[in-house]
Amino acid sequence: MYHILFTLLFRRMDPERAHHLAFRWIRLVARVPVLRTFAAAALAPRHEELRTEAFGLRLHSPFGLAAGFDKNAVGIDGLAMLGFDHVEIGTVTGEPQPGNPRKRLFRLVADRALINRMGFNNDGSLAVAARLASRTPVFRTVVGVNIGKTKAVPEDEAVADYVKSAERLAPYADYLVVNVSSPNTPGLRDLQAVDHLRPLLTAVREAADRAVPARRVPLLVKIAPDLADEDVDAVADLAVELGLDGIIATNTTIARAGLGLTSDPAAVNETGGLSGAPLKARSLEVLRRLYARVGDRITLVGVGGIENAEDAWQRILAGATLVQGYSAFVYEGPLWGRAMHKGLAARLRTSPYATLADAVGADVRTTA
Ligand SMILES: Cc1cc2nc3c(=O)[nH]c(=O)nc-3n(C[C@H](O)[C@H](O)[C@H](O)COP(=O)(O)O)c2cc1C
Repeated sequence: MYHILFTLLFRRMDPERAHHLAFRWIRLVARVPVLRTFAAAALAPRHEELRTEAFGLRLHSPFGLAAGFDKNAVGIDGLAMLGFDHVEIGTVTGEPQPGNPRKRLFRLVADRALINRMGFNNDGSLAVAARLASRTPVFRTVVGVNIGKTKAVPEDEAVADYVKSAERLAPYADYLVVNVSSPNTPGLRDLQAVDHLRPLLTAVREAADRAVPARRVPLLVKIAPDLADEDVDAVADLAVELGLDGIIATNTTIARAGLGLTSDPAAVNETGGLSGAPLKARSLEVLRRLYARVGDRITLVGVGGIENAEDAWQRILAGATLVQGYSAFVYEGPLWGRAMHKGLAARLRTSPYATLADAVGADVRTTA
């Protein structure tokens, strides 16, 4: 059904318009109590065995929605209704900004991939904090808040910009993510170098503690798949040193590996971050490397090219406690969450592991 709708309607439409239209429908359904109850029962049935814990939070399942879909925290309950058991909002920047000029989102349908150069279009940390403050949650889903640098802020003032967002948003965040890995803000990814990352993460940690003295808000960092292996190790070591709660691997890539011969050459040559199926192998590789380095000391979140339950299961075996996706949601539609839950529960049932936690990193532990 969704595939027909996608082919007939969304595929002909500009991808960003299609995103806004689909998201508006989701929010409309979620606003009507009888519809949302029916939709949640049909699309997000619970599988008790998938219940899990990450950085002290309890979740219905390890599966969630990656940052970038709900940049402004306008539709968290609609997304929870579709089976996303954590929703990472953002990236939110210190100040509001329009992002890059359109057109800035491209579909590579044959590759089940996207290229985007959105450039952190968002309402800014003040407005998003106000929206979260006034929210009355309908569904219990974990809300992650992903923060990044305002484009107009010079690089030597980046820390202050992140701190501003952290102070405003930490009170509403189940967990906070420092995004230093988007390819669409000039200079942002240089912040992944440990000399820059150490003061940044320290300052954000302090800001979150100042803003929320009663609760230690879990702090994570999101990294790029384009880091050299030694740099992945360096970030992992820094995360352990600073007592970080988690690492999200990975963001989109500036590489163009893994694309098929049938890819639309015009789209392939667009500047921006590539996501979806072609990212799968490298994201898995980075995750595996991180787990080999940090083991159970830090919670890992696997993202990048996850399309089905088998992909998610492979991430869990490679060390991910949580898994996220974005691009496959575009291609699979509202039934994606249901299929992921069902498939993951089946995987676990037929595995040698009693719980999901037992499966986390099992592949890396046996090959180490
Ligand atoms: C249109 C689009 C916008 C995105 N915006 C953000 C963002 O604002 N912040 C962020 O950390 N990641 C962002 N991402 C990256 C995703 O969160 C995710 O890391 C990446 O797409 C890989 O996962 P996927 O292959 O399942 O899409 C965006 C991705 C897409 C496709």
